[in-house]
Amino acid sequence: MSAERTRHRICSVDELEPGERILKTVSDREIGVFNVDGKFHAVANYCVHAGGPICEGRLSGMVTAEAGEWEWDWAREGEILACPWHGWEFDIDSGEFLADDQYRLITYETEIEDGTLYVVLGGA
Ligand code: FES
Repeated sequence: MSAERTRHRICSVDELEPGERILKTVSDREIGVFNVDGKFHAVANYCVHAGGPICEGRLSGMVTAEAGEWEWDWAREGEILACPWHGWEFDIDSGEFLADDQYRLITYETEIEDGTLYVVLGGA
């Protein structure tokens, strides 16, 4: 059974510049909304490891390397969210924990209408 789909205003799109984030309480849930290069991501402020405030963590990139090679690269700058408590790192788009995809942050759909940014709850 799916929950009712509800849309909640976060802010004007102009108020959240690329690289910025905002924390809002929506229906008793604390949600962080991030602008990563013009794409908006909404994440519950609850780390699946031990409940830390994931949305207050560092947003950075990740090291990549090919198996068997000694060369590495820096990729996905601004797309990897690290928890401030124990450093678990998550893909901000999917919510997936980088080291084990069985762990995933709660993420929400975002919508823009008439210059206003919304988070959508329920409807799954
Ligand atoms: S609570 Fe987030 S890494 Fe431990």
